Amino acid sequence: MKDVVILGIESSCDETAAAVVRNGRQVLSSVVNSQIEIHKEYGGVVPEIASRNHVRNIDCVVKAALDEAGVTPFDLDGIAVTYGAGLVGALLVGVSFAKSLSQATGVPLIKVNHIEGHICANYITHPELEPPFVCLLASGGHTAVVMVESYTDYSVLKTTIDDACGEAFDKVARTLGLPYPGGVWVDKLAREGKNTADFKSAVMKDGNFSYSGLKTGVINYVHNMSQKGLEINKNDVAKSFTMAAVKGLVDEAADTAAASVKKLCVAGGVGANSYLREYAAEICAKKGVALFLPELKYCGDNAAMIAAQGYFLMRENKDIADFSLNACPTLTLKTK
Ligand code: KG4
Ligand code: ZN
Repeated sequence: MKDVVILGIESSCDETAAAVVRNGRQVLSSVVNSQIEIHKEYGGVVPEIASRNHVRNIDCVVKAALDEAGVTPFDLDGIAVTYGAGLVGALLVGVSFAKSLSQATGVPLIKVNHIEGHICANYITHPELEPPFVCLLASGGHTAVVMVESYTDYSVLKTTIDDACGEAFDKVARTLGLPYPGGVWVDKLAREGKNTADFKSAVMKDGNFSYSGLKTGVINYVHNMSQKGLEINKNDVAKSFTMAAVKGLVDEAADTAAASVKKLCVAGGVGANSYLREYAAEICAKKGVALFLPELKYCGDNAAMIAAQGYFLMRENKDIADFSLNACPTLTLKTK
């Protein structure tokens, strides 16, 4: 069969990324230009600054990805672009660039849901992986347990009713005075900490998740300690929070996998969390579930995962877009 080469473009938040992927799994190039250093001084992503930097960078990032892969735009079989969810101005930069490139070359345009892209990161790391599998999805904007029925069909089984898991990591980091992006710093501190605060788990009785209460619980704990003039142990707070945020989420996903397809994948930025990865390995081994973790570089935002999903969509003739394609900031993962 002829190889299918897809260019992926991602600009939903503060990473300008482009990648060239062959047959949905072989990464020929993956370029990520992160704006972390720029947004650090504001303690979070400033949408307008993010958009301006995407405009400044996208040309070079796409060119670098094409050059590194040794292809020209005319060699491509598809151009896959993230059209949601994310920051509207940021998304529009990628969408507009992809539309222009598609129009100039005649290469088909494929619209990709960022969240579906995160799930597809697993096909890159694990060439043998095929659906169906259960996916624990945890990023800065989404938290869910999903049944991945096929390469393009999903059932959302459990979800957060308020904040996302990554968002809670970032807010707790801020409360502890840690730099942006917070998740990775909480992870580092937690490695040397103990679960002394014993915060309430983010899993609710019905198996869905709520991170807003947990986040408030941590903020109150830190304030109470400071009102009493007591020193907090940041390592212990980070560890206590991480366990409350992650343990129940992993249990829920692993139980779902154990009762069904016996395969569990992890996706999204929080998938890089060291406790999550270790605990998932331990619990899956106990329950007889095969665990698939994406490489760390494919947990956070990247364009290889977007190109991968573009390939699977194109193969099924789904989500081929025309030049009326617009950004969709509130796009969700839907049960299809
Ligand atoms: O998937 P992602 O890169 O972007 C979104 O689609 O949202 O996820 C970003 C989130 C942030 O909230 C960040 O703090 C969190 O992932 N994150 C982590 C770690 N690395 C990134 N959270 C916990 N532990 C980490 N090691
Ligand atoms: Zn993401």
